[in-house]
Amino acid sequence: MTERAPLSRKLSAIAESATLKVDAKAKALKAEGKPVISYAAGEPDFATPQFIVDAAAEALADPASYRYTPAPGLPALREAIAAKTLRDSGLEVSPAQVIVTNGGKQSVYQAFQAVVNPGDEVLLPAPYWTTYPEAIRLADGTPVEVFAGADQEYKVTVEQLEAARTERTTVLVFVSPSNPTGSVYTAEETKAIGEWALEHGIWIVSDEIYQNLTYEGVKATSIVEAVPDVANQTILVNGVAKTYAMTGWRVGWMVGPADAIKVAGNLQSHLTSNVNNVAQKADDRRAQRPADRGRAVPRGVRPPPSADRVGAVEDRRPRGAEPARRVLRVPRRAGPARPHLGRRDADHIARARRPHPRPGRGRGRPRRGLRPVRLPPHVVRARRRPAPRGRAAPAAAVLRLTRLVASTR
Ligand SMILES: Cc1ncc(COP(=O)(O)O)c(C=O)c1O
Repeated sequence: MTERAPLSRKLSAIAESATLKVDAKAKALKAEGKPVISYAAGEPDFATPQFIVDAAAEALADPASYRYTPAPGLPALREAIAAKTLRDSGLEVSPAQVIVTNGGKQSVYQAFQAVVNPGDEVLLPAPYWTTYPEAIRLADGTPVEVFAGADQEYKVTVEQLEAARTERTTVLVFVSPSNPTGSVYTAEETKAIGEWALEHGIWIVSDEIYQNLTYEGVKATSIVEAVPDVANQTILVNGVAKTYAMTGWRVGWMVGPADAIKVAGNLQSHLTSNVNNVAQKADDRRAQRPADRGRAVPRGVRPPPSADRVGAVEDRRPRGAEPARRVLRVPRRAGPARPHLGRRDADHIARARRPHPRPGRGRGRPRRGLRPVRLPPHVVRARRRPAPRGRAAPAAAVLRLTRLVASTR
């Protein structure tokens, strides 16, 4: 008997999504009754707003929803996404330049498929979200990491990009606010990078999925707003997962020049066809509601923009006991063994470890699960540093969320 032909070499070389793997493990542990708080996937800790759920229920009762929609999405939803793109990214596009995808992840995949040719080099600022290099490889491209450390607030400079550019460089990945670091490029930094890409005819895949999750007045300027001329070589990736706590609904989108959207749409028509009709209708209702035109994050809640790889918080408290310790961890491939702590993050850790009066439950009463703990030396050191400006403070965001969860348990 002849040996079976081999599996695809390309797929065999692709790594499983580390984020989803850890998330699945956390869910399995939870199902066993273990007290686990998972920060593996970037999942907001609040429910999808009720009016979106109601719209889905309504759509479910309508037999018209049991049919295919056009592969690139319902016309009304594509129109709403075009309006959102103008509002938040400053770019006027026609609905024909929009494809509704199964989450932002499918947009990332399709964007690289649309603009990468075999052997092309794709500049990938690091640390990065784990899907990018694999999606680039799936498009037969070569990811070229450009590392930006804590000393530069995890933001690459034009000089670094220029140093990494070769004649095979055709694409730049731009993510602001960034997952995993939470860094937000200033308007000037964004403009400089956009102009550099324009000058060299380099495509930009700009992932804006965390666009509406910035804090302390920081605005994430879209690269197409900073440099309008670069729109003809930019694909914007976005979706509802993070802003509206809709990770499981699988609605994302890509926006770009008509020719790139056409080829990506052709791919999607063979790959998945349309996104679930009911989810599209629910999302259309969300997009139409004036009160909902920003973010759905309830006041006081800050979903972690960067929990996937840096700053995952592990609560090692045995059941029914006080917290043994909370550990900030970085998976090995993400860079340093311990995430860099900015002063704001460190201050937050210090606050989280102090007894905390709980409103409405008697002044001075310690918040459940939070007891004074001696601060580890790296936190003490970080508190002495000046607070950075213009960052979304991922570790702090994660910790705030931890406190919220701890207080509602
Ligand atoms: C930076 C970034 N882009 C895109 C996505 C994809 O989001 P989704 O496919 O859930 O819409 C994620 C998910 O974690 C992300 O972190």
